[in-house]
Amino acid sequence: MAEMLRWGIVGTGMIAEVFAKGLEQAQRGRKAAVASRSADRASAFAAKHGIPRAYGSYEALCADPDINAVYVATPHPCHRDVVLAAAAAGKHILCEKPMGVTASECSEMIAAAEAAGVTLLEAFMYRVHPQTALVQQVIRDGRIGQVKLIRSAFCYGLGDAYNVRLDKVLRGGGLYDVGCYCINFSRMVAGEEPDDIAAVWTLGATTGVDESLAGGLRFPAGVVAHFDVSVRSTGSAYAEILGTTGSLLVPNPWRPDPDRAEIELRCQGQAPQTLTCLAGGQVFPLEADHLAAVVQDGVEPLIPAANAIGNAAVLDTIWQRMHGRAEASA
Ligand SMILES: NC(=O)c1ccc[n+]([C@@H]2O[C@H](COP(=O)([O-])OP(=O)(O)OC[C@H]3O[C@@H](n4cnc5c(N)ncnc54)[C@H](OP(=O)(O)O)[C@@H]3O)[C@@H](O)[C@H]2O)c1
Repeated sequence: MAEMLRWGIVGTGMIAEVFAKGLEQAQRGRKAAVASRSADRASAFAAKHGIPRAYGSYEALCADPDINAVYVATPHPCHRDVVLAAAAAGKHILCEKPMGVTASECSEMIAAAEAAGVTLLEAFMYRVHPQTALVQQVIRDGRIGQVKLIRSAFCYGLGDAYNVRLDKVLRGGGLYDVGCYCINFSRMVAGEEPDDIAAVWTLGATTGVDESLAGGLRFPAGVVAHFDVSVRSTGSAYAEILGTTGSLLVPNPWRPDPDRAEIELRCQGQAPQTLTCLAGGQVFPLEADHLAAVVQDGVEPLIPAANAIGNAAVLDTIWQRMHGRAEASA
């Protein structure tokens, strides 16, 4: 077995904490360093999570020759600069979703990783859980016939305290935060990019970001997908795929149960059937181990980096409609 990847964590927020804990269960990686914009925050995070080195700038972590994988856990529009710096320093990269806020940003990051000969993966954690592979297998096997319609949702409620998810400058709002999952899932199931995109939304009176949004995608082969997201509602998460002869319900698509993940197959004329994934594992250590397998064993990535471009194109198209072309990036 190849040696453990030595991870540097960039950012000290909510998901950085979750990933740092997750690394403890990874088979092929360990925590080596953390970086913050503040040396004090980096030191506090390092002490809390038993991380050997703490840096007061992201650049300093990228310059650490001992680090060979970087986890990017900054707000969405801040991913680009860290990814470019990490790639230039020859580090493999797991970048939080959405990889970039525009398609062109993603293309730039992917080109930089390719030029540097490093692996770059977008951290859609649900894609590394075997439940998602099972969903894909059921569809590939034709068990619901030809896919016609995809429905999905990711809704939850934020409080009134400042949160990057409500900050318009940081592309806050439900679309980028959680709509990215529904769009990613719909594109995965449809197996192509949408040729029509629709959305309606409500912008928060004080935040100015989409606090509730319903979106629609039409794909060239005829599949239609719709999804809804909210950052101001009670929780709701599911995905359902309707085919010509059956349907597949995924009650917990985004963070499948690590011990027992279940999906429900309903075929015409038959009793519903529960399909179970036992001991699928926790998504965050799975993500770290997947990057190691790609880097060290040459395994094909479950989502190639280029997949991020199509997702960002949908996100940015809706963002431009919400906030006007003047703000939109090229
Ligand atoms: N895969 C998942 O399940 C999942 C879940 C949640 C979030 N995410 C993604 O992870 C990213 C971070 O989300 P989060 O919930 O961890 O956010 P968060 O709690 O606000 O943390 C973001 C961190 O980024 C750093 N940062 C750099 N520039 C910043 C800026 N201009 N404003 C605020 N913080 C800045 C900060 O660390 P320092 O100040 O220490 O440098 C901060 O602690 C987002 O892209 C989000 O979509 C993924």
